[in-house]
Amino acid sequence: MTSFNIGMYGGGTVGGGVYELIMKNSPSNNMKITKICVRDLNKPRDFQVDGSITSWTADPDSILEDDSINCIVEVMGGTGLAKRIIETALKKGKAVVTANKALLAEHWNELQKVLKANPKARLAWEAAVCGGIPIIQILQTAYQGDEISSVTGICNGTTNFMLTQMFQHGAAYDQVLKEAQGLGYAEVDPTADVEGHDVRAKIVLLSQLAYGGSIVGGVEQIPCKGISKITEDDFAYARLLKATIKLVGTARRMEGGKVSVYVTPAIVEERHALASIDGAGNAVVVESKNLGACAYTGPGAGRYPTANSVVADLYRLSASTTAAAASDDALTLDPNYAGSFYIRFPVAKKHAGIVGKIGVCAEQHGVGIRSVLKNTDKDFCVITEDCQLSQVEGLCADLAKQDFAGNDEALFMPILSG
Ligand SMILES: NC(=O)c1ccc[n+]([C@@H]2O[C@H](COP(=O)([O-])OP(=O)(O)OC[C@H]3O[C@@H](n4cnc5c(N)ncnc54)[C@H](OP(=O)(O)O)[C@@H]3O)[C@@H](O)[C@H]2O)c1
Repeated sequence: MTSFNIGMYGGGTVGGGVYELIMKNSPSNNMKITKICVRDLNKPRDFQVDGSITSWTADPDSILEDDSINCIVEVMGGTGLAKRIIETALKKGKAVVTANKALLAEHWNELQKVLKANPKARLAWEAAVCGGIPIIQILQTAYQGDEISSVTGICNGTTNFMLTQMFQHGAAYDQVLKEAQGLGYAEVDPTADVEGHDVRAKIVLLSQLAYGGSIVGGVEQIPCKGISKITEDDFAYARLLKATIKLVGTARRMEGGKVSVYVTPAIVEERHALASIDGAGNAVVVESKNLGACAYTGPGAGRYPTANSVVADLYRLSASTTAAAASDDALTLDPNYAGSFYIRFPVAKKHAGIVGKIGVCAEQHGVGIRSVLKNTDKDFCVITEDCQLSQVEGLCADLAKQDFAGNDEALFMPILSG
C-alpha cells in the first residue's frame, strides 16, 4: 500500500464527506488529507477539520507544488482549472481521484494522452458516474472475459425524481421542477439536468469503458433529448401501455462494430428493471453475452454515497501501481438508433380521416404503425413497429407540414420492453 498525503480541491458537499470518511470514520495511518483548497477561505464549513493535520488554502498551486503531497482529490467541479490541476498532478506523478464527469467527458482524450505519456500516473473516477454505485469498477473488472451488448442507465437523480413525481402524482413539469429546486435536487439553472447533458457526459464515459475505445470529436455529436417537453398526457399514455417514463442514457453495440450512444426519455414498460427506480435513485442495466441482463442500482448522488466512491478509489489506487490509461481506439458512432417508438403528434383540431393520412405518411417513411393509442382534438398518439430514429424524424417532419398539424413539435421516445 502506498501511503497518501492528500491535497483536496473542494470542501463542499462531496469534499466534506471525503474529509469525514478519511479523517474521522476510518482513520488510517497511510492516508491523510493535509491541505484543502477552496475558493472562499471565510465561508463557514459544515464539517470539522483537524488543524494539527490539515491546512486550508485558496491557492491551487500550493498543493501542486507541495512535494509532500502525493495524491490529489478533485471534488471542485468545472472543466477549466480542474483540468489544469489534474493534468499537472498526473505529470508530477501524483495519484488523482476525481468526481468530475463533465471534465472527464469533455477532455477524455487529452487525459488519456497524459496517462499514456506518464506510465506511473494513476487516475480514478468512480464517483463521476452514478455517485455511490460502483459501476466503473464493475465495468473495468467484471466483464473482461465477456462481451457487452448494451449499457442503459438512469444516471441523473434530479430528473428521475421529477419524472417519478409526474408519474405518481400526476404533477405538471413546471411544478415538479420548482419542487426539485426547493429540495436542492435541481440547480437554479436546471439545463444540464433536464436537457440530458449530465446523462450524456455519464453515458459517454460508460460507453468508453464498456467498448474499450474513445469517442473522438466531442460529446455534442451524441443525440441528446431531455425531459422538458414531457407532459401529463405522455404519462397518461404511458399508463395505458403499462409503462412509465424515464430519462435514459444508452450505449449499444450495433452490427459491424459501431456503437450507438444516445440520451432520450423513454417509455419503460413496468416489467423492465429500470421502471421501478424511483425518486433520486440511479440504476444501470448491463447486457452481456455471458451474464444476460444485470442491474446495478443505488444512490446516484449525495455527500456520503459520492464520498464513499472517492474513498474506495483512494484505497484502490494506494494498493495499485499500474497505469490507468484506456484504449485510444476511436469508437465508431452510429447516431441512428433503432427500436419501437412512441410518437405524440399535436393536431390543430380533431380531423376526419387523420388516421389514413398518418398511415400514408408513415408508409412513405417505411414506418409501420403498431397501434393508435389515442386520437383527441389535441393530439394523436401512435406506437411504431421497430424502425430507425431517422425514419421517425422524417415522419414527424412530414406530419408537421400537414393541414391538421398543431403548432407544437411532435414528441417521440423509444420504448424499452420488459
Ligand atoms: N454533490 C453530489 O452529490 C455529486 C455526486 C457526484 C459527483 N459530484 C461531482 O463532485 C464535484 C463537487 O461537487 P459538490 O456537490 O461537492 O460541489 P460544491 O458543494 O459546490 O463544492 C465545490 C467546492 O469546490 C470549491 N471550488 C469551486 N471552484 C473553485 C476554485 N476555482 N478554486 C478553489 N476551490 C473551488 C468550492 O469552494 P467554496 O466552498 O469556497 O465555494 C467548494 O468547496 C463536481 O464535479 C460534481 O459534479 C457531485
